[in-house]
Amino acid sequence: MNTVKTVRELRAAVARARSEGKRIGFVPTMGNLHSGHVALITKATQRVDFVVASIFVNPLQFGAGEDLDKYPRTLAADQEKLLEAGCDLLFAPTVEEMYPDGMTGQTRVSVPQLSEGLCGASRPGHFEGVATVVSKLFNMVQPDLAIFGQKDFQQLAVIRALVHDLNMPIQIIGEPTVRAADGLALSSRNGFLSEEQRATAPVVYRTLSQIAEAIKQGDRDFPALIAAQIKQLEAAGLRPDYLEIRHALTLRPATAEDRDLVILVAAFLGTTRLIDNLHLNLDTPA
Ligand code: PAF
Repeated sequence: MNTVKTVRELRAAVARARSEGKRIGFVPTMGNLHSGHVALITKATQRVDFVVASIFVNPLQFGAGEDLDKYPRTLAADQEKLLEAGCDLLFAPTVEEMYPDGMTGQTRVSVPQLSEGLCGASRPGHFEGVATVVSKLFNMVQPDLAIFGQKDFQQLAVIRALVHDLNMPIQIIGEPTVRAADGLALSSRNGFLSEEQRATAPVVYRTLSQIAEAIKQGDRDFPALIAAQIKQLEAAGLRPDYLEIRHALTLRPATAEDRDLVILVAAFLGTTRLIDNLHLNLDTPA
């Protein structure tokens, strides 16, 4: 596996693969890779002939006071995992390579509606930063398909919308969240948790599972369900940012008649913000 740091080298390597008739798959990441990322690479190797990954901690998607500076940077360990997973090319640019003219005053990509509410409400500008960097990366790599984790459910919806709205010829694939044995969704931010917090964290997924179970049993009083589970999160020592039931495709607040639902949560454990979700389609047998 080659690692390149410039757009020029990236384009040359992808062009070589294309000239050999290879289909290109792309897995964008911010590094500090875990089994969830490895699953995305593995999926890509099954679908295409040439897999490109990127590692770039994108300043544009972090707000003031967020964890940009302390976000873990572990390039050497990441390279090993990518190599082992069958990745062909790693693009690991600097901030200057990605934003040679700086980050203010240049074109931004924004996806209205889907970016509003949920993480968009508590992280203003976050999805504009994501949509902008993902658009740039897509233009740099020009993949046939790109793979993202479903853990970032709203992000995936935003990316699907931008690809559709901007007529990008890229197939977007969402891969199921990879969880620890106790249910905690794998995330680079889990490394910030103390031992005690790590033991508490699975309550986040338990909360989602209990709501899903209640809905499956016929409970449609969503406000009451949410209120009870917010109390449970608080009792466990978390500070919920949001806990909501939405329509899985449009992300608008779910009504009692909706059948394709997603339950989404963000909650602080100390200073670490954990997010998770559970997709529940009542028309699909579990
Ligand atoms: O999900 C992530 O790791 C990032 O938001 C992404 C998609 C790589 C864009 O920076």
